[in-house]
Amino acid sequence: MDAGKTYGKGDTLADIISSGNSEIDSKMGGGIPVSSLGLIEGANDSGKSVLMQQLMKGGLDGQKKVLMFTTENTNRSLLKQMESLALDITDYYIVGRAKIYPIQENLAKGNRETAENLLQVMLKTIESSGEDLIIIDSLTVFVVDLPENEILDFFTRCKKLCDRRKTILITAHGYAFSEMLLVRLRSICDVHLHLKIEQMGEQLVKSMEISKVRGAQKATGNIFSFDIRPNFGFKIIPISKARA
Ligand SMILES: Nc1ncnc2c1ncn2[C@@H]1O[C@H](COP(=O)(O)OP(=O)(O)OP(=O)(O)O)[C@@H](O)[C@H]1O
Ligand SMILES: [Mg+2]
Repeated sequence: MDAGKTYGKGDTLADIISSGNSEIDSKMGGGIPVSSLGLIEGANDSGKSVLMQQLMKGGLDGQKKVLMFTTENTNRSLLKQMESLALDITDYYIVGRAKIYPIQENLAKGNRETAENLLQVMLKTIESSGEDLIIIDSLTVFVVDLPENEILDFFTRCKKLCDRRKTILITAHGYAFSEMLLVRLRSICDVHLHLKIEQMGEQLVKSMEISKVRGAQKATGNIFSFDIRPNFGFKIIPISKARA
């Protein structure tokens, strides 16, 4: 494990997935509890992918096996991107503890049947996988044209897979779901994080709301601002500084 990485009080490495950033873990009440289904929702550029990369590295450092479905990167570009944030996972990748499955966004875009098929393939892959942490970054293109009952069904089936000590984290853009659907998804999910990007004066400021973390009541409602820095990743910044 990397020096300087800490875990929540009373939690063991087996029980949580760390973001690798002790401040962020503590805002979440220690980290992401194992066996959670998590929805990480946010606008373009709000930090969803970088957060997933942090949790991927955190999971690997915490002895987990991790599988990332990505619509944004190839294997090589993801490894490079993570290296640029001081989240190098190349060694884990080489020994097979980190798996990366790129999915071309264009395949599903505007093609409902393909989107439905790809969702089924993802579910089957998760079901038969030996990985502990599964990340889908992002789900938007698969669900944007789907009826709500099919989206709910996908989340419900993911939730069932989480019973087997699998943790599944799904990123999506807010516009992928109606307000009504979001309420229902939030109740299915154990973790709901909302990333925002707002104009404050001259600056665009990123923030994260911990809308829900199962078992961590104190974490619920925590909001903090952050920056993403090269060779570092997420860096919490005080609200007063963000507003300056
Ligand atoms: N290696 C890096 N060094 C510095 N900043 C970075 C690095 N990688 C990403 N960023 C910054 O982090 C921010 C968030 O990027 P990220 O890709 O996580 O957003 P996102 O929410 O996934 O966006 P999208 O909805 O487009 O997928 C961007 O402003 C980006 O410039
Ligand atoms: Mg992204």
